[in-house]
Amino acid sequence: MKEVVVSGIRSTGNLHLGNYYGALSKFVKMQEDYDCLFFIADLHALTTHPDPRILHSNVQDILAEYLASGIDPEKATIFVQSDVPEVSELYLLLNMHVGIGELMRTASFKDKARKQLGIKTGNEKDDDEDIERQIIGTNSNKRVNAGLLTYPTLMAVDILIQKAQKVPVGKDQEQHLELTRRFARRFNSFYGVDLFPEPTNFNFGDHAVKVPGLDGSGKMGKSEGNCIYLVDDEKTLRKKVMRAVTDQGPTEPNQPISQPVENLLTLMELTSTADVVEHYRKAYADCSIRYGDMKKQLAEDILKITTPIRERYLEIRNNDVYISKVVKEGAERARERAAKTLHEVREIMGIRKFY
Ligand code: TYM
Repeated sequence: MKEVVVSGIRSTGNLHLGNYYGALSKFVKMQEDYDCLFFIADLHALTTHPDPRILHSNVQDILAEYLASGIDPEKATIFVQSDVPEVSELYLLLNMHVGIGELMRTASFKDKARKQLGIKTGNEKDDDEDIERQIIGTNSNKRVNAGLLTYPTLMAVDILIQKAQKVPVGKDQEQHLELTRRFARRFNSFYGVDLFPEPTNFNFGDHAVKVPGLDGSGKMGKSEGNCIYLVDDEKTLRKKVMRAVTDQGPTEPNQPISQPVENLLTLMELTSTADVVEHYRKAYADCSIRYGDMKKQLAEDILKITTPIRERYLEIRNNDVYISKVVKEGAERARERAAKTLHEVREIMGIRKFY
């Protein structure tokens, strides 16, 4: 029997290179050898209150991007999270075994809570105390929604309800995966059952990727404004790459590579050939590097990856009939499996019908 793979992406806007290398490109490869289910996490997107008028079209964008990137509905199950109501019920049941404290300590929660409360990042420890005080305090009119706190429960349910063994995600999601394993173990041991496997991340290399942004700082992210989108047109993409942050240029041979330049080299490692990366690393070391050339090369190599995806995307995006057919069939398959697990969980927890 093939191992089961589950992964999803939130419907919060178009997909960028971080989503592609952290998740999507792995989905496309894995569909050949695994029993794969890939979905759009529209319920997770609600934690940051998207405009209801655009949520549906955001879901459609990502579906089109999945298909354009090469996920094949004949090989993998593609569905929308909210089309599987069993997920919401299991989310309620699993929450009975999840601690508020462990959720509050999750890095992504602290990060998003800080944003919702308008706390600027400073000293982590002070921030943590501030977050707690403001969340519990009564005279604050700012609030952190409970859905944000229980985000990891919902994510664990997406995975556990399909009894997945492998979950291809980027580095930023590893803590959520760790929690998923913990919840699976806890449920199994509390009821003395062997229901849920403990899922692990999956990478083709030896470690999870973190794709950096173009602004010289941290990871590429939709809310950071530092993204290259798969559907950026050629002009926009070139412009973004040419404007990427670098440094003043090396002044001494073999000096350590600065963070912004290391970020561009990381992007090159993902998109260019090994000899190109080697060439620019050497050029930095002997101070002959020209950032203009390097960026031109990088833009060229990224375009080789994104152009065919963009072209297919433009074809698929408005084909409502095809997209509906794919997600309808996907939802049926995903629901059937989810309903089976939910039934088992209800039995295990002692919830039985009288009729
Ligand atoms: P989301 O939408 O934030 O991210 C989707 C995927 O893209 C990866 N990713 C990155 N990888 C490397 N470098 C980056 N800069 C970068 N930015 C994003 C993320 O790691 C992720 O794999 N919670 C999930 C959605 C989800 C899910 C699930 C995933 C909900 N339920 C069940 C797997 C299984 C998320 O944050 O997606």
